Amino acid sequence: MQSINLRKKFIIGNWKMHTTTADAARLAKAVVDGVGTEQQVVIAICPPFTYLALVGEILKGSYVSLGAQNLYPEKDGAFTGEISPTMLLDVGCRYVILGHSERRHILGESDAFINQKVLIALGASLNVILCVGETLDQRKTGQTETVLDRQLVQGLAGLSADNLPRLIVAYEPVWAIGSTGHHATPDQVQQAHTFIRRRFGDLFGEKAAQLLPIQYGGSVKPDNAAAFLSQPDVDGALLGGASLEADQFIAIVRAGISELKTEEKSTFPQSHNPNLERPQLNAP
Ligand code: 13P
Repeated sequence: MQSINLRKKFIIGNWKMHTTTADAARLAKAVVDGVGTEQQVVIAICPPFTYLALVGEILKGSYVSLGAQNLYPEKDGAFTGEISPTMLLDVGCRYVILGHSERRHILGESDAFINQKVLIALGASLNVILCVGETLDQRKTGQTETVLDRQLVQGLAGLSADNLPRLIVAYEPVWAIGSTGHHATPDQVQQAHTFIRRRFGDLFGEKAAQLLPIQYGGSVKPDNAAAFLSQPDVDGALLGGASLEADQFIAIVRAGISELKTEEKSTFPQSHNPNLERPQLNAP
């Protein structure tokens, strides 16, 4: 449907509720060393809140950005146990994952609540990764598109055009995340991404849809990364398990780079959003 050359690949690690202080420091250093001066792919890691400041220090002077896994949709106030966008910015976060299925299904987050988070995060100039995806039951009963539609329409309600350049959508079918024994095929992923891009176009216009990065997440590993990343509407990967092993994470970054090399790159750079798409050297 489009020229994929407009979009870079985004490889982002979601560490979920893993690591200790020592593990986080070791893993972040290994990622920084492995990435080196790589700038063709946009790379970020999202540790647990408790290690953001530590990892942020390690990422300084590198091309790896810092992201968080959640936030609370208020600037500050009496919200015991919560973390604000201001706090994330304060420790150097540039990205935040919102609407992850584990928060939707385990913590009961609604589309309306996720929408509040999306709006406040974008308003605070964070780059947002909005996760969407159906459960196995929903897929089996033919509701995949209805669910994706609802999560997009409600999750993105009220977004202004200025905010679109800081948005990434991640398609994460719940049934393919972690060790479920189920794997999405590259074709299934491409189909879902095509649907997401089309619906995004209905909501925000064709041009915005062509520029929207859509990542895939769900058991992406070094041995299957190329198959997903070579799909025309797959603009990167959101990694869980594979982001906890520096070698695997770097191997997937390399798969992203190879994929770019096999695509026609003559139109680069055509970023609609230099802030989001151009890897930035973190200030030392
Ligand atoms: P896995 O890569 O472990 O399947 O996790 C995907 C995910 O949920 C990333 O947000």
